[in-house]
Amino acid sequence: MNDSYDAIVLGAGAAGLMCAARAGQRGRRVLVLEKAEAPGKKILISGGGRCNFTNIGAGPANYLSANPHFAKSALARYTPRDFLELVESYDIAWHEKTLGQLFCDGSAKQVVAMLLEECAKGGVELRCGEGIASVAHDGDFTVTTQNGSYTAPALVIATGGPSIPKMGATGFAYDLARQFGLKVVEPRPALVPLTLGGEEVLFREISGVSAPVIATANKTSFAEAALFTHRGLSGPAILQVSSYWRPGDPVAVNFLPGRNPEWLLDGKRTHPRATLRSLLRDALPDRLADILAEKLGIPGELGNATDKALRAASERLGRWEFHPNGTEGFAKAEVTVGGISTAELSSKTMEAKRIPGLYVIGEAVDVTGWLGGYNFQWAWASAVAAGEAL
Ligand code: FDA
Repeated sequence: MNDSYDAIVLGAGAAGLMCAARAGQRGRRVLVLEKAEAPGKKILISGGGRCNFTNIGAGPANYLSANPHFAKSALARYTPRDFLELVESYDIAWHEKTLGQLFCDGSAKQVVAMLLEECAKGGVELRCGEGIASVAHDGDFTVTTQNGSYTAPALVIATGGPSIPKMGATGFAYDLARQFGLKVVEPRPALVPLTLGGEEVLFREISGVSAPVIATANKTSFAEAALFTHRGLSGPAILQVSSYWRPGDPVAVNFLPGRNPEWLLDGKRTHPRATLRSLLRDALPDRLADILAEKLGIPGELGNATDKALRAASERLGRWEFHPNGTEGFAKAEVTVGGISTAELSSKTMEAKRIPGLYVIGEAVDVTGWLGGYNFQWAWASAVAAGEAL
């Protein structure tokens, strides 16, 4: 064990390991302190165990932040192609699942092993099972754990966000930020299922049903699948819009994406003996078609329905408003929106402007990606930005 370090990285997750490896390979003596017994826990469970490690199309437009420009610099300097090159240099087989999402063919364990190997190449010292009791700043940074104290002129906060507390996630990064007087943008659960109450609990009856839709919240839309659950709404389209959703906002769902708005009227002309329910069953899963038809309340044969009623039904199917009464919270959120304010940090190096030597990277920062590999890409890119600067 070294007793003198150039930098201490708090957290051996995606960002912490990447940053430590980069700085180590530049000749810095780096110590990583991790409170869990093993590194990279979230990487291991990510992407259903196959780790959606990047998105080939990742760019600043795929991120939420109080300052949408902040992520540009780091994302431009370390791109999805750069990470893919690293993956390929370790002979890790990968595939694109959909929408630019790249996954390991084998296992997320390969990504953790790769990062650990990169750290080893940089002579990084990794100490797991080190719960941090305190951090003091007196020119240098001194981190005290149950095992002792470690000092370095640079400290990197890479302890992530509070999503999935069961896995040991906490708001520790925000506590440290406050200790150092850095502003924190209110953290909220994101990429999280939404819950339904009131009359909308009826949709719980079709728990397990999914359909391709366009979901919209706060003017941001995603065309992916929505899934009805026993608590409300989930599936990729809903997880995506949940990051933009605020309590009280409706979520509009287009159940008939790509269909001509005159579809029901055409149906009346071509199949006047059909019912709304049978026509909807041609376009949607049966149980969803049934519940929507029931709610639209056009009984009997389409030939007997007025054009006006069918137009109104079409419009509603194209913009069905749900009124979620909440989210499933941090317990089920894949990430956290908000975090340590980007106004406090250099977008080039991730260093705190007012506290030289203090860096914040990864999910702890107020930069949050869409679903689909974008969050890891931010972890890698912000980590490299800091790792090159330390
Ligand atoms: P991360 O959470 O990875 O690491 C933080 C580390 O700090 C952890 O090891 C933690 O134990 C440690 N720590 C916390 N407090 C500490 C303390 N006080 N002292 C020392 N250590 C401490 N993203 C994506 O792009 N593709 C995907 O496939 C998925 N899949 C996915 C699935 C699930 C179930 C979840 C919950 C999340 C995802 N994500 C994802 C999101 C992705 O996992 C997340 O954005 C990154 O892991 C963030 O990386 P960080 O290194 O910032 O935090």
